[in-house]
Amino acid sequence: MGVTAQSNWKFNIVQSGVHHASNPDPYRGCFGSNGLKYAEDVQGLIDYGTSGRVAGFTTEAIQGVGGIVELAPGNLPAAYNSVKKIGGLCIADEVQLGFARIGSHFWGFETHGVVLNIVTMAKGIGSGIPIGVAVTTPEIAQCLMSLKEKYEIIGDVRARGLILGLELVTDRQLKTPAKVKILHIMN
Ligand SMILES: Cc1ncc(COP(=O)(O)O)c(C=O)c1O
Repeated sequence: MGVTAQSNWKFNIVQSGVHHASNPDPYRGCFGSNGLKYAEDVQGLIDYGTSGRVAGFTTEAIQGVGGIVELAPGNLPAAYNSVKKIGGLCIADEVQLGFARIGSHFWGFETHGVVLNIVTMAKGIGSGIPIGVAVTTPEIAQCLMSLKEKYEIIGDVRARGLILGLELVTDRQLKTPAKVKILHIMN
């Protein structure tokens, strides 16, 4: 479960910009099955570990590689509230859970009754074909255009509805692919 913050730290705990809140693991977690306590930890992390400007909050509704850990009850809605009220985006990683792999629901996040901004998916969507997808709202997707004005490295944005392409370059004139940066991002 990660909180991705923008720059200007109050103090710098993690150089990469990704913070990890206490794992809301009802079996082994430090607050047992008290989901709200873990959510308070997310709020504390925002208050004291970041500038208060949080870019996004990512979690799986059931942690897969983390050991098949269900989130403590009540945790996710409360954690999302903390993030949303300061303008952060809530992101569900549905790579393992999505496409009805949990049986009862099509998406894992549905089991928590939350509304979010971005859903990432893979595995189940391709049935063996290597494919990954991030789905979001048109408002967030169209923001790519304004990012191009802000960041030199974005050479081109090609977008129509939710079909989006973004090309990173080291030289806009020569359209030189930013290979090293891209490899760095992918790793
Ligand atoms: C739940 C979950 N999220 C994200 C990923 C990461 O996918 P990638 O290696 O394409 O970044 C995986 C990979 O198995 C995964 O299981």
